[in-house]
Amino acid sequence: MDLKHSDAFVFFGATGDLAYKKIFPSLQAMVKRGHLNVPVIGVARSAKNLGELRARARDSLEKHGGLDPAAFDNLSRLLRYVRGDNGDPATYQALREELGGAERPAFYLAIPPTSFETVVEQLGKSGCARGARVILEKPFGRDLASALDLNRILLGSFEEKAIFRIDHYLGKRPVERMVFFRFTNPFLEAIWDRNHVESIQITMAESFGVQGRGGFYDETGAIRDVIQNHLFQVLCNLAMEPPVRTDSESIRDEKVKILKAIPSLDEKNVVRGQFQGYREERGVAPESKVETFAALRLEVNSWRWQGVPFFIRAGKCLPVTCTEILVRIREPPPVYQGFQLKQNYFRFRISPETVLAIGTNVLAQGETVCESNEMVALRQPGPGEMDAYERVLGDAMAGDATLFARQDYVEEAWRIVDPALKADTPVFEYEPQTWGPKEVERVTPPGGWHTPLGA
Ligand code: BG6
Repeated sequence: MDLKHSDAFVFFGATGDLAYKKIFPSLQAMVKRGHLNVPVIGVARSAKNLGELRARARDSLEKHGGLDPAAFDNLSRLLRYVRGDNGDPATYQALREELGGAERPAFYLAIPPTSFETVVEQLGKSGCARGARVILEKPFGRDLASALDLNRILLGSFEEKAIFRIDHYLGKRPVERMVFFRFTNPFLEAIWDRNHVESIQITMAESFGVQGRGGFYDETGAIRDVIQNHLFQVLCNLAMEPPVRTDSESIRDEKVKILKAIPSLDEKNVVRGQFQGYREERGVAPESKVETFAALRLEVNSWRWQGVPFFIRAGKCLPVTCTEILVRIREPPPVYQGFQLKQNYFRFRISPETVLAIGTNVLAQGETVCESNEMVALRQPGPGEMDAYERVLGDAMAGDATLFARQDYVEEAWRIVDPALKADTPVFEYEPQTWGPKEVERVTPPGGWHTPLGA
């Protein structure tokens, strides 16, 4: 692990949507916490000068998260601007000058993946890449072949240890809390396996549609947008073996092992859906067959998990916005005749708030009825946490790779979903604010999909 702190932060796409919604709020928060005190250089074309970029930053903060006058003043002082085209060598000469004596800059590509190659090559040719790190956004490619191509290009200018592939889900504290909970409570270890667990299901539901991102979404779809990356990371946190240490490579090694144990997806284990009205969204093809909903069934063929089905369901325009996991424990033997015993379960809610709960059977008042009782180990409101982007950007600048996807992980993840993506399976329509098309019955956990609270 390379733990030297970056001495400049450069972000391409400084006037883009991601910068507006996520990066400026994170930068302001980092400044406020005293975590950012190096030049912050925006690269873009549409702002005419630094004054315009500052005005955009102010506007972004007013709309997303709130302007903190003192922190914003400090951020404004750190802010620089390089105006230019991503493909023009003159942009990189100007960038070199702006970087001055910086020896370890971090370059964040907050731009469409189609521009990655150009920027990475220009960073290499101009000498900017020397000693630097590069930070990029998922999806890393759109299948295994393109992910390999992208990596070849990255490795032409940067070493693997200098490449930080963002999956902002890993920056969410509750995702990390699950791992902490698993590996600090030995009682769990005794039951966390195929002898006790019946099935595991992960739901990522969003009650809104594509929110003006139709152009991006129609090239992507739910599997590439959130399953192959965010939800596979969640699955790995649930299924991985205990790491021998908590350094980045020990943890990332265990995650890759889980993906290696998952056979490539058979098309019969996938159901894709599209909400009614999606094709009328701006940027979406009128005949689009892109999925806004997907449900899949996976197997993890390891000693621990062989025979336990893992289900993932994700979609837009569902009844609620939340991410929740349910681990169902096998039924108890029917010794207590006449009681309606429920299965024990673990429920992890990742968003909007954190919940860690265990479902148990207890004898209710009157001693004749059995109640399912939730023991809540942790319940925390969401807001007030360090935002996922603030965490991952801070970690990338500090050189800590734990919360980033390693290339071997990315390749395994594509290997799993590639056949299903290429199979061109049908896309079934569903009504907005429902749990997807009725065909999802085909890919449903034993005992059914759990309905998260709030729905
Ligand atoms: C992004 C996806 O990676 O994650 C979006 O592109 C999705 O489609 C978003 O809405 C969800 O992340 P969060 O942090 O808002 O739950």
